Order: sequence, then structure tokens, then C-alpha cells
Amino acid sequence: MKVLVVGGGGREHALCWKIALSPLVKRVYCAPGNGGIAGVAECVDVAANDVAGLVRFAKAEAIDLTVVGPEEPLCLGLVDAMRAASLRVLGPDQSAAEIEGSKAYAREVCRRNRIPSPGFWVFNDSSKAHAFLENRQEGPIVVKASGLAAGKGVTMARTRAEARTAVDEMMDQARFGAAGRTVVLEEFLEGSECSVIHLTDGKTFAPFEPARDHKRVFDRDQGPNTGGMGAVSPVPGLGKRTLRQIEDQILFPAVNGLNREGRVFRGFLYAGCMLTATGPRLLEFNCRLGDPETQPILMRLSSDLVPLLLHAADGTLEQCEAPVFDSRTAVCVVAASGGYPGEYQKGCLIHGLDQVRGGPDLQVFHSGTARRGGDLVTTGGRVLSVCALGKSVEEARSRAYTELAKIEFQGIHYRRDIGA
Ligand SMILES: Nc1ncnc2c1ncn2[C@@H]1O[C@H](COP(=O)(O)OP(=O)(O)O)[C@@H](O)[C@H]1O
Ligand SMILES: [Mg+2]
Repeated sequence: MKVLVVGGGGREHALCWKIALSPLVKRVYCAPGNGGIAGVAECVDVAANDVAGLVRFAKAEAIDLTVVGPEEPLCLGLVDAMRAASLRVLGPDQSAAEIEGSKAYAREVCRRNRIPSPGFWVFNDSSKAHAFLENRQEGPIVVKASGLAAGKGVTMARTRAEARTAVDEMMDQARFGAAGRTVVLEEFLEGSECSVIHLTDGKTFAPFEPARDHKRVFDRDQGPNTGGMGAVSPVPGLGKRTLRQIEDQILFPAVNGLNREGRVFRGFLYAGCMLTATGPRLLEFNCRLGDPETQPILMRLSSDLVPLLLHAADGTLEQCEAPVFDSRTAVCVVAASGGYPGEYQKGCLIHGLDQVRGGPDLQVFHSGTARRGGDLVTTGGRVLSVCALGKSVEEARSRAYTELAKIEFQGIHYRRDIGA
């Protein structure tokens, strides 16, 4: 069969790599892909948010299954358009994707289904948000643009003044465009974070292994937030009991709640959780796999991914065997361009990839690379990641860092403490 993966980052590279390993698959396409993906799939020059173009391509090539990586096309209704054209596709439709596309809506789902959450308050009017802050005790509060903001729409305000500024920027200065028209204020929670991402067809769950990503750009969680500088799976210290709680109190009620509204979620449902002293609480839902969490999770997946994707797309996941995972640890370290997450240079030559030891327990996944002639150059802030399996976190870390040290491009930087 022919599979199309939509997107062009590290997550999509890992998806293409894993899908290409399936004996069921003859050809993998990726739209638009990147310089690394070109090694395992045929890159197609159609943008990930070009809904009409993607449907046209899938029709023309008689694609048997389309797998959607990023949130934007899901929220734009790519799945609805594919289904309307009688194409098989894995991902939530537009109505179910709203659980990520609107943080205000996601919090309503939490309220209606008693999903453990921080205290939260939704505002469509900046004067009401300001009045709320005025009447509230001085102290930290989280300010979130409700809509899609590419991971940049959350401010952790330490003081009321900082919260006021964030509200102004989002609501009055439209820093995130329409995404900031509605703002969610949230109680500031303390604890450690984890991501639990399960595949579901709206009735049955295929449990995937949890992961933890590292959002801040510098070691010891210093500096600004990024798209993710690395990830580890399983999550050190996260036990079975807490995992069950996240399933029973967060993921299952969310999917059931969506069903009751006539929104059937088919795809990967991602619960970003804070593990607090009083149990796990939901920070946000994503309607797709995370990047870079996907990389270590798929490195650990022993089962063929494709039957799982097919059954979830068809709504027959109960007929599929549960996925089996390698008990070893996978660590993924992202190498970024100089200056990222601020301004950065593009087009830098990447050296040393030919020196990296390959194999089933070590993979390099590309995020922002392109082929130029015989060369590979940088095209994004996050450039590539090295992902390694090991019997312990220490072993996986040391393998990933040993190989990463062989790779060079101008301005390269990465965290030294992923998984530590
Ligand atoms: N209520 C909260 N309390 C403490 N930290 C939070 C809270 N909400 C979000 N955060 C922090 O901000 C990060 C981003 O928030 P999130 O809701 O996941 O939005 P997005 O991923 O869309 O930027 C989280 O990973 C977490 O570190
Ligand atoms: Mg998040």
C-alpha cells in the first residue's frame, strides 16, 4: 500500500521511518518532508496546510492511508476534506481537533467531564480579564492565548503586572492574531511534567508509552521556551499507578465527553500533564503526536505501526493487537541553529552525518534540513535530533551524545542534560 505522511519535521521523519519498515507498505510519501525524510520517503512539494492540494495529491496517487502530523491541517479540516473525497486518513476531524485548537474549549471539556485541571478563567474581553486580575491576590498566574500559537502563546506571569502585560499583548495588540482574541488564565501548578499520548478510534485505546520533553532552550530549564530540545521515554519516576490515573481521569473521560457531543476523536490524543502533590492534572490536550516525543516513543515501538494506524482510521481498533514496546529507554537530543528560538541563520552546511553510527538502536531524525546538490543544509531552528536506545537512561544518553558530537554546523547548540 501507499502511505502519505503530512508534515516536515522530526516527528514526521520518525513516522516515515517507522511506516517504511512495515511489510504492508510499498511506498511512503511525505508532504512536504525535509532533507532527512527524503532518505526514507518520497518528498512531495505540497505544504502541510494546503488542504486542497493534499486531497488532490492523495486522489491522484491513490494513497491508501494518509497520516497527519501537525495540528494546523487538522484544525483546518484536512481530515474532513479527505473523508469527503473517500480517502482513508488518520487524525481527528475538525470538530474533535478543537480540543487543541481552542484551549478555552478544552477547559470546558475538562469542566463538563470533571477532568483534574488547574483553576481557570476564560475571557473574550480584555477589560474583564484586567478586572479579574485587579481583584485577585498578587502572585503567579498562567496566561494562555486560546488558539493555535505554535507553542509561543503561553506566558508564566510571576506577578500581576506581568499578567497584565501578557493580556494586553494577546488581546489588545493581537500579538498572536485571532488566536489571542480569547485568553485563558490558569492557576499556576507546580510539579514535573509528562506527556501521555494514546491512539484511539473514539471507542478503543491503543496505549502508547509516556514521554517527557524538555521545552526550555538551555540546561537546567533555563532560557525561553522552544518547540522542544529533547525527550525521553519512559518517564523517569512515572509509575504505573499515575499512568492509570492519567488514563482513567483524563484521556478516557475526554474521549467519552467528545463522543457525547458527537465529536468522534480518531487519532493520537496527547495529554500534557503536571504531576502535582495531589495527583496528575491536565495542562493541555494536543490532537496529534508531539515533537520531539514521537521520536523516542517510536524508537521503542516493537510492533508494526501501520496496522494500528489503519484500524484507528477505520474505527476498528478493538480488532488490533495492543502495541508492544521495548523496555529500554530512548533519549532524543535536538540540535538547534545558533540564536534559536530567536532569530537564526539558515543555509548552513551540515557536516559529519556520515560519521554517525547507524543501526536499530540509533537514529538521526531531521527537522529543519534540505538537500542542496550533494549537500545537506539547515533550514529551520530545530535542525535534527539524535535518538538512542539504551538499557538505562545513562546508557541511552551517552550513546546519543557520543554520536551528536560528530555532527557540526555553524552555530550548533544543544542541551547537555536531556533525560538527566
Ligand atoms: N497551569 C499551569 N501551571 C504551570 N505551568 C503551566 C501551566 N500551563 C502551562 N504551563 C507550562 O507552560 C507550557 C506550555 O503550556 P501548554 O498549555 O502546554 O501550551 P502550548 O504547548 O500550546 O504552548 C507547559 O508545558 C508548562 O510547562
Ligand atoms: Mg504544550
